[in-house]
Amino acid sequence: MISEKLQKILARAGYGSRRELERWITEGRVTINGQIATTGDRATTEDAILIDGKPVHLPAYQRVRVILYNKPEGEVCTRSDPEGRKTVFDCLPRIKGERWIAVGRLDIATTGLLLFTNNGDLAHKLMHPSSQIDREYIVRVHGAVDDDMLQRLREGVMLDDGVARFSDIAVGERVGTNGWYTVALMEGRNREVKRLWESQNIEVNRLKRVRFGPIFLPSYVGKGQWIELDEVPLNDLLASVKMFVPKKNKAIPLNEKERRNRQVKRLRSGGAK
Ligand code: URA
Repeated sequence: MISEKLQKILARAGYGSRRELERWITEGRVTINGQIATTGDRATTEDAILIDGKPVHLPAYQRVRVILYNKPEGEVCTRSDPEGRKTVFDCLPRIKGERWIAVGRLDIATTGLLLFTNNGDLAHKLMHPSSQIDREYIVRVHGAVDDDMLQRLREGVMLDDGVARFSDIAVGERVGTNGWYTVALMEGRNREVKRLWESQNIEVNRLKRVRFGPIFLPSYVGKGQWIELDEVPLNDLLASVKMFVPKKNKAIPLNEKERRNRQVKRLRSGGAK
């Protein structure tokens, strides 16, 4: 059995980022086979590893999997909500012996594309600003928007946590006092789209994510539905963060009709539109 750096194995299984895990190891919170681990230690999936005294589960072979979910309004992105609200994790398929890791978050009122993976490394890389993955949103705003505002939003404005900008803004139609825009961002800071518009005194009243890097939200995936990415989109996503494509990930290519029939899962009786 091939051994790997302890923090690498744990990060892949979704226990944290490599940096976080290195810190926990340095703090003496991780043991391997009863011994306190150090950051240079290597381990295999057969070793007994504990974090804070709790056993970790390491799958012997991990096929990289990614789920695309169309988040409806009203769901939160935490694993469990102290206020008892519905969470996006409630709606995902079971994954035996592993867990789904959300690739970023959407606010409770935001709808659209949310990715989940069983691979912690992939999740971390997709979320890291250095990967320069762009996200695209359709947004409805209330109020008069002028060209100077759009120019400032394209060039960059100072927010509480540093300068932010839209890498692209496409102007859509105006309906009464509302206007539609398609915007793209190269990072996923908390409430970044809304905060950018708020910096121009413009309120966002609808927000939907329609693309994450090379992955678009397909129109046939209704609200509250998910699909698992098959070989081609999965490999595009892995390539966008320069991750190799394991041979065992190979899937049987399906034609479009079969793919839709087999992949679209109704999660709720009467499913959302
Ligand atoms: N930006 C926001 O303001 N909210 C989201 O949910 C996602 C991006």
